[in-house]
Amino acid sequence: MISHPVSGRLPVPRRAATYHSAMTRVFSGVQPTGALHLGNYLGAFRQWVAGQRESDCYFCVVDLHSLTVEHEPGELAALTLDTAACFLAAGLEPDLVTLFVQSHVHEHAEMAWLLECNVSFGELSRMTQFKEKAAGRGAVKAGLFTYPALMAADILLYDTDRVPVGDDQRQHLELTRDVAMRFNNRYGETFVVPEAAVPEAAARVMDLQAPTQKMSKSEGSPLGRIDLLDGPEEVTQKIRRAVTDTDGEVSYDPDRKPGVSNLLEIMSAVTGEPVAEVASRYQQYGSLKADLAEALVEMLQPVRKRYELYSSDPGEMANLLEQGADKAAAVASKTLARAKEAMGLLGRTA
Ligand code: AMP
Ligand code: TRP
Repeated sequence: MISHPVSGRLPVPRRAATYHSAMTRVFSGVQPTGALHLGNYLGAFRQWVAGQRESDCYFCVVDLHSLTVEHEPGELAALTLDTAACFLAAGLEPDLVTLFVQSHVHEHAEMAWLLECNVSFGELSRMTQFKEKAAGRGAVKAGLFTYPALMAADILLYDTDRVPVGDDQRQHLELTRDVAMRFNNRYGETFVVPEAAVPEAAARVMDLQAPTQKMSKSEGSPLGRIDLLDGPEEVTQKIRRAVTDTDGEVSYDPDRKPGVSNLLEIMSAVTGEPVAEVASRYQQYGSLKADLAEALVEMLQPVRKRYELYSSDPGEMANLLEQGADKAAAVASKTLARAKEAMGLLGRTA
């Protein structure tokens, strides 16, 4: 084994458990690309909130990721603050979790480069999110292609154990694990290999108007999406107008009956009951829709209240994000230094 040229120390194999305290480390992120919706809430936020007391949590507004498709420079900063306010509105407690903005911690971009040099063109080409987002676009940004390396950097910088995300991020998490294991094998133990945490119900909430497509911030009609901040009338109207089918029978069959199955799955996620039990309680679409609308209104009401509180003081929000960035950078800089040393980059003497 060759000792490090500057420190003169032999690289010591490190075990994951020595990187941070015994608490499980959690990391996740959301792009500031528009109004957050029920899919974000059920797929991601609810899990974040549920684990915030027993885990050491880092949640990030991933603004660098949002540059991989066209964006409006005049709106990005406000959207970033607003997305952070929505994290808190969803129920995160500012004194329990570390909340920050990705571009405030420069280690993310630097680590992404190291990881780009440990992931292959073929692997990135197989990413379905890339294929979907690139389809039909004239000029595809190189950053859209290398996006998963930046996401892996986000996760690996914090020695993350668990990454709570919706089902659409599974493939990116698999790639992150592969890259971490490959790096550890090639350069010595450096990264914790993280696990995805995907919820059992509503891991992929579908569009209410086009139930074979996932609910999304940017695609589909506004009627197909329930926003986190929708009021009772909007929620009720969108659920009432949700596409079902003509046979009128309530049963869970995502292939044959995607519309009603989506409603059943949302109801199961909201009440915590197994989806088959929910389905057995209803004979008619009308009563399922009425109960679901009521349950969603009740679930979202406190979110809107908290949003009013946190969005009314952008200065305070910015302060919180500053403190979060300092805390995040203290962790990220150590991991980055470890990765650079492992790859053999010449360290600085001063
Ligand atoms: P994004 O809006 O793409 O930045 O996604 C942020 C988080 O929400 C990620 O964890 C996604 O997996 C999750 N998410 C986004 N859309 C959905 C959806 N329709 N159903 C469930 N989870 C979703
Ligand atoms: N790619 C994720 C999405 O679109 C956002 C994201 C970026 C993320 N970095 C992350 C999620 C790290 C979890 C962990 O939803």
